[in-house]
Amino acid sequence: MHVSFSSSKIKKFINQQREKYILYKKMVLMVNESIITVKNLSKKFNGLTAVDNISFEVKKGEIFAFLGPNGAGKTTTIKMLTTLLHPTAGEIKINGYDPVNEQKDARKSFGIVFQDQSLDEDLTAYENMDFHGVFYNVPKDLRKKRIDYLLNFVGLQERKDDFVKNFSGGMKRRLEIARGLIHHPKILFLDEPTIGLDPQTRNHMWQYIKDLNKKEGMTVFFTTHYMEEAEKIADTIAVIDKGRIIKKETPQALKRLTNTRSLEEAFLKLTGKSIRDEKSSSIDNLRMNRKIWRR
Ligand SMILES: Nc1ncnc2c1ncn2[C@@H]1O[C@H](COP(=O)(O)OP(=O)(O)OP(=O)(O)O)[C@@H](O)[C@H]1O
Ligand SMILES: [Mg+2]
Repeated sequence: MHVSFSSSKIKKFINQQREKYILYKKMVLMVNESIITVKNLSKKFNGLTAVDNISFEVKKGEIFAFLGPNGAGKTTTIKMLTTLLHPTAGEIKINGYDPVNEQKDARKSFGIVFQDQSLDEDLTAYENMDFHGVFYNVPKDLRKKRIDYLLNFVGLQERKDDFVKNFSGGMKRRLEIARGLIHHPKILFLDEPTIGLDPQTRNHMWQYIKDLNKKEGMTVFFTTHYMEEAEKIADTIAVIDKGRIIKKETPQALKRLTNTRSLEEAFLKLTGKSIRDEKSSSIDNLRMNRKIWRR
């Protein structure tokens, strides 16, 4: 019997094995170690309890989503995890460090894309990227390579020498995401990174992040209002409402446990509220622009 293998079949086989190996490596990492630990964490602003005694863990290499309606406490939690706000009560460990008492080491462990715009408007796109790279000690040659790649990736290569103050809201958002990816951090926090972006750019961005997660084991912690994003990307979803975590499961388990067919329905059942979806992107734009105008 004559058996012939075409090179494309062999390549496909090798790729399949590689994918399996990467997945296996990811499972081992996730089972073994947690990179974020939160115990009984609360934040009060005067009389208001924004985060109410939450506890959870994120494993190394996990993609973890915080899903919740407006005002649920997502950003407040991220700010505490990333040293920007001090908790009222509770404990946090980020890559083994306490963000209150070991701020410097904690900060070296993560990158962040903020919900609110945080670019320097008086610098060019390239300068914003370069400054960030220097801050995170990315060596010069690698920095230049990554900046060129990322600016191209988010479609801003031709505008690299323009001042950010002259950019549109969507362009600023794209630049901000690119900036967050320069230093390939151990943990990447993304607070509503894709708000106001078109579906194609969103897909593109998630593909890149998933790739980094697979290749470098980068842990990802993100919030979103887009259900399909959470469903497609996240290994684990924590549903948060009124400062409390109601459920923390895989997307599949969330649907199974609520006896629903979509994450949208599961969310509605758990919180009694619907979350804005893709159809309301005009609202997102409004909201985002409002935030930019307010500055
Ligand atoms: N600095 C602050 N001072 C007073 N109240 C605050 C402050 N920051 C947040 N809050 C309040 O805490 C609650 C949680 O806000 P947070 O920004 O964490 O919500 P969120 O889940 O990120 O919402 P969104 O989806 O709109 O971004 C809200 O009621 C908000 O008004
Ligand atoms: Mg928020």
